[in-house]
Amino acid sequence: MQTIFSGIQPSGTLTLGNYLGAIQHFVRLQEDSNCYFCIVDEHAITVPQDRLKLRSNIRSLAALYLASGIDPEKATLFIQSEVPAHTQLGWMLESISYTGELERMTQFKDKASGQETVSSALLTYPSLMASDILLYQTDMVPVGEDQKQHMELTRNLAERFNRQFNDIFTIPETRIPKVGARIMSLQDPSKKMSKSDENEKAFISMLDDTKKIDKKIKSAVTDSDGIVTYDETNKPGISNLLTIFASCSGRTIEEIETLYAGKGYGEFKQGTADAVISVLQPIQDRYRELLDSDALDDILDTGADKASHAANKMLKKAKKAMGLGRVKKQ
Ligand code: TYM
Repeated sequence: MQTIFSGIQPSGTLTLGNYLGAIQHFVRLQEDSNCYFCIVDEHAITVPQDRLKLRSNIRSLAALYLASGIDPEKATLFIQSEVPAHTQLGWMLESISYTGELERMTQFKDKASGQETVSSALLTYPSLMASDILLYQTDMVPVGEDQKQHMELTRNLAERFNRQFNDIFTIPETRIPKVGARIMSLQDPSKKMSKSDENEKAFISMLDDTKKIDKKIKSAVTDSDGIVTYDETNKPGISNLLTIFASCSGRTIEEIETLYAGKGYGEFKQGTADAVISVLQPIQDRYRELLDSDALDDILDTGADKASHAANKMLKKAKKAMGLGRVKKQ
């Protein structure tokens, strides 16, 4: 059985992009793989966070994973900071990461640009992400398009470690979905939809109510030619809505184009909003039941135990390979 690992940052309420690019696929993958899904809170602190908000975002993300269909009987759900092996191996991998390759990461450049001060953790973030993945002998990592570069670095670090010390790490494959890997901003379809966007109309939060979703989709930027057809270059706004509609309805883009042939954008946007609501509303209902439940704590406790067990074994091997600590007398 293959092992799968993926993580999401608790740095704000998740967007429809996180759901369509990541969580939706996790739910399917847990059926026939050994899955680890992580709330990567130590990644979130690479940029300043409000302590209380972070706490509540961590819990909210755990509830959203479960409400979206992650089944704790099938997958291991846990919080990164509750499994110390992540930062321990992360540090070891930093020692074989080059500052040059870390500085080349587009996400680092984007997040660092225009900031007066930048934490060193923001730079070394990809070494910690590599640690998350390599601790579990992961075969495959399902992520959205924006994580492709971090995944290439993870593979490079694993190969470098195996060559330099001992061949202990599995080299993970990246899986990026064909549709929905890059959901774009509703206000500027040249940018990805992001939970940290200053313009609230640019993204749909997984917890937005029906009215808000309706309003945001109706005010999504499109073009003026009135034809519902997929053309990323000339019609990025409509293409993005088509992708969202298809991902939320299970229909193909071609089917939706046919359905709305000769109809206006108003009708098409209504159809898109209805499809989004039909996916998010049941998730929101389950989310509200789970958020303050004891069951949520039990699931996270069990998840941290299971993850620690697997991670500590790998950490021990990695320490031995690097010559850290002592060899215990028999
Ligand atoms: P994060 O928290 O930014 O995003 C979580 C997941 O959602 C995907 N995603 C999107 N997919 C489609 N369209 C969008 N607009 C969109 N925005 C986000 C991301 O690609 C991701 O799959 N570095 C990671 C977290 C991480 C991780 C890991 C992932 C830490 N360790 C190990 C995989 C394996 C991140 O910041 O994702």
